Amino acid sequence: MLLLIAAPRGWGAMRVAQERYVSVMNWIEHVRASRLIGHLLTERDAAQEVRIHGVGAFLLAKYRGMAESAEGEQKRLADGKALTELVAAALSGLAMAGTYGVMLWLILSGHMGLAVAGTAVIAVRAGSASLGALVMNVNQLHEESLYVQDHDRFLAEAARRAIPAGGRPLPERVDRVVLDQVTYRYPDRDEAALDGVSVELPMGSVTAVVGENGSGKSTLMKVLAGLLLPQSGTVRWGGADLAGLDRSQVFDRVSLLTQDFQRWPVTAALNIRIGRPAREAGPTELQPSVEYAGAAPVVAKLPHGLRSLLARMFRGASELSGGEWQKIGLARTHWRTETCAADSVLIVDEPTSALDPEAEIAAFDAIRRLAGPHRAVVLVTHRMSGVRHADTIYVLAGGRLAEHGSHDTLMAARGRYAAMFETQAAQYAAGPRAGVPHPSAPPVPEPS
Ligand SMILES: Nc1ncnc2c1ncn2[C@@H]1O[C@H](COP(=O)(O)OP(=O)(O)O)[C@@H](O)[C@H]1O
Ligand SMILES: [Mg+2]
Repeated sequence: MLLLIAAPRGWGAMRVAQERYVSVMNWIEHVRASRLIGHLLTERDAAQEVRIHGVGAFLLAKYRGMAESAEGEQKRLADGKALTELVAAALSGLAMAGTYGVMLWLILSGHMGLAVAGTAVIAVRAGSASLGALVMNVNQLHEESLYVQDHDRFLAEAARRAIPAGGRPLPERVDRVVLDQVTYRYPDRDEAALDGVSVELPMGSVTAVVGENGSGKSTLMKVLAGLLLPQSGTVRWGGADLAGLDRSQVFDRVSLLTQDFQRWPVTAALNIRIGRPAREAGPTELQPSVEYAGAAPVVAKLPHGLRSLLARMFRGASELSGGEWQKIGLARTHWRTETCAADSVLIVDEPTSALDPEAEIAAFDAIRRLAGPHRAVVLVTHRMSGVRHADTIYVLAGGRLAEHGSHDTLMAARGRYAAMFETQAAQYAAGPRAGVPHPSAPPVPEPS
C-alpha cells in the first residue's frame, strides 16, 4: 500500500522533470539570444550605434518580445506542472484513503488490534513521508543525469575535434614550408575554400598572397599555421608532414598578426609581452619592440608608460585609438618573432586594411624588415601597392591559385594580377591629391 501511495508522486515528478528538460533544450537558443541582446545593450563597443543609430530602442523592443515569449513558455510549463502534480497528488491521496480503508476493515474484522492499528497509522505516515523523499531524490538524480549525459556527449565531441597533443618533434632547422595541392572545405560549406593550392615559403623570403575578399587567403594562412588540417594535399615543414608533427611545436614557430588581433585588457607592457607569454621581460627588453613598431610616442603619452592599464573596464585605465593599437600589435609581433630562435614563419593577414594605402605600404615595409635567414614572411592583402617588393606573389581567386611569380613577371604576363594592380594604381593616381580616390573616377570593380 505504501508503494501505491508513493508511485503516483514518482510518476508526477518524473514527468515534470522530463517536460522541463525538453523545454530547456528547445529554448536554449532563445535564452542565449536574449542574453546576447542584453549584453549588446550595455557593452561599450556597441554604445555609439546603440545611441546614435537608435539601436537601443530597437533592441529593447526585441528583448521585450523575446522575454514575453519566454514568459509564455514558463507559464505553459507551470500549468503543466500544476496539472501533473494535481493528478499525482489525487492518485496518491486515493491510495492513502485505500490504505486507511484496508486498515479499518482489518480492525472491524478483528484481524488487527486497536493499539497495533494506532502504531500502523504512525508507521504509514512516517513510511510514506520517507518514501516520498526517496522518490524526489531519485527523480532529481534522474533529471541531473539528463544534463550529465549531454555533458558527456559534449566532452566526447570536443575530444574528437581537439588538436591532438604530442606527435613527432619539429626539427630546429627547416629550409622551407611547403603547401602541396592543399584542399580545405569548411564542414558547413559545399564549396571548397581552398582547392588544390600549392605554395612554397623558403626561409629568408618574403611572400605575398593577394586576392579578392573571400578568395581563401585567411583560410590558407590557417592551414599554413597548423590551425586547420587540409582534407587533401600536404603541408610540410622541411621534410616533415604537418599531420604527424607535434602541433604545439608548430604553433611555437608561427607569429601571427591579423586585423582583429586581440586587444588584451592588461597593461601595455603585457600587451606586447603576451606575444610570448612564457618569456619574462621588463621594459628594457621590450624597448626594441616598442621602437620597431613606432610605438614610443604612444607609450610616452600614457600616464604610466608601459605600465599603464589598457582596459577601460577598470578605474584609471587608458584608452588607445585604433591606429595606436595597431602599433602595439606590431610591437607584439616583433617581440614574438624576435624571441624565436628556430626557423619560423611570420604571417601578416591584412592587419592594415583599415589604414590608408600609404600607411599600409609603410607598415608592410616595416614588416619586411623582420625577414631574416631563419624566417619566412607572408604578407596577405587585397591591396597590391604594398606587395610589389615581395619575392613571390601568389594570386588567389575563388580558392584556387590563379598565378604566381614576382611583380615584374606577373605584370609582364598581363593576367589577373596586372589587371588588379593597374585598376588600383589608377584609382589612387587619378585623384587630385595623391592617395585620395578621385570622386569622378569611373566606377571600378571592388579591388579587394
Ligand atoms: N569558419 C568558417 N566557416 C565556414 N566558412 C568559412 C569560414 N571562414 C571562412 N569561410 C568561407 O571560406 C571562404 C574563404 O574565406 P577567407 O579565407 O576568410 O577569405 P579571405 O581571407 O580571402 O577574404 C569564404 O567563402 C568564407 O565565407
Ligand atoms: Mg581574410
